[in-house]
Amino acid sequence: MHSIKVIRKKARVFIIIGGAWGDEGKGKVAAFYAKIADLVIRATGGANAGHTLYINGHKVALHLIPGGIGYPGVICLIGQGVALDLDILFQEMEDLRNLGVLDAEERLKISGMATVLMPYHKELDELYERMRENKVGTTKRGIGPAYEDKVKRDGLLVYHLLDSLENLEAVIKNAVERHNILFRHYGMKEAVVDPHALAVKYHEYGERIKKMVVDGHNFVRGYVDDPTKTIVVEGAQAVMLSIETGNRPNYVTSSDSNINGTLSGAHLSWKDITEVILIYKAYLSRVGNGPFYTELPAHLDADGNLIPFAPEEAKIGDKLREAAGEYGATTGRPRRVGLYDILVGRYAVEVSGADYACFNHMDTIGKFALESNGGSISVVTSYKYRGEEINYYPFDTIYTHEVPEPCSVISIPGWVIEKGTHTYEDLPENAKKFIEVIEEYIGVPVKYIGIGPKNSDLIVRTDV
Ligand code: IMP
Repeated sequence: MHSIKVIRKKARVFIIIGGAWGDEGKGKVAAFYAKIADLVIRATGGANAGHTLYINGHKVALHLIPGGIGYPGVICLIGQGVALDLDILFQEMEDLRNLGVLDAEERLKISGMATVLMPYHKELDELYERMRENKVGTTKRGIGPAYEDKVKRDGLLVYHLLDSLENLEAVIKNAVERHNILFRHYGMKEAVVDPHALAVKYHEYGERIKKMVVDGHNFVRGYVDDPTKTIVVEGAQAVMLSIETGNRPNYVTSSDSNINGTLSGAHLSWKDITEVILIYKAYLSRVGNGPFYTELPAHLDADGNLIPFAPEEAKIGDKLREAAGEYGATTGRPRRVGLYDILVGRYAVEVSGADYACFNHMDTIGKFALESNGGSISVVTSYKYRGEEINYYPFDTIYTHEVPEPCSVISIPGWVIEKGTHTYEDLPENAKKFIEVIEEYIGVPVKYIGIGPKNSDLIVRTDV
């Protein structure tokens, strides 16, 4: 018997995943890699995500098109895991054109296997949220219903839009049959779908995107099998919002925004990975409902809306939210904020297989500690739960109905990061101490450190 060992030389593949509940600043590390990338892939989610880009000095918010589009020559792919809202895609293409990116249509590719998010999904998102007792606090972008159709096997693929008008109409008709019953039942006459009219519109959309549609698998293989190429996968949402590893069943998005869904959504396998980078902030934030055990008190009502307050009445969570500018990029909603939670952090490392971590907002938290928090900042290292101290993130709260509370914390004096700091060695000692304490607990090196709002405000450590 003999064995044949095939040594495959492959592209470098960097995967960027959110470490908590989203909005960690994934775009900054994505931008760092986009500079050296050949292909940037968006793998999951839809227009619920959002990142801000500066192109030719102008600000643009992209929800669907990968941020790599801002870098000349970089090819971008919307992968098969995405729920694609074409109205928003067209708007983003136009915004890019207006900013002088004239070749976006040539550089953007769309997997034929991506799910098409239809207008009725947005109507359903509103309706479901209205009917729910445990409100998710969705972004109302139709995400849940689009993935629901996918899982129900009634989803519409990008490929369907390229089929004949009659076939497309038949697929839409099948998909909306039950939705229309619901719309009629709830008196939502305007939402009732006319399959023919919608098929005509989306058939025309199909014509518009036809040139961009690719066979996702083969397209990505063309890069993966070329050792000179670099691929970057821009994760959307985060580990704790994943339908697989987050706060199920209610307080999650409807795709697997952790590593497994991100890989399959990008037409990749785990064997293709070079590096998984988990992105955190030096504190935590959450927009929408759901557990948040280290949340700081703030003037927010149960639906996450700001309750008006006089400046002198600001609670500590209000102060951190203001200091950090924590308002949603997609919905503008004020975000809930809290202390960095080692138990969330370590869980996310364990279930994502991260190689490295990034900590953003290191400037914000050091300054906040000094100016608003009595001089220091804490990270939570254990909870008090059911009368005991525990050092893991519990999911059985579903039936215990008890709420874990921060128990042990480590407090570190604040710091100021001077302009012009470029290396880890030059960071203030307390900032380094903060990083080193966290590294010890979460078990992966913190290779990337965000020290300001600009993409260039990123320290990349060479010592780890
Ligand atoms: P959906 O994805 O719109 O269904 O919303 C489900 C939950 O995920 C809600 O709590 C949203 O606020 C949250 N969510 C969805 N996308 C993002 C994101 O990109 N950042 C932060 N939270 C998000």
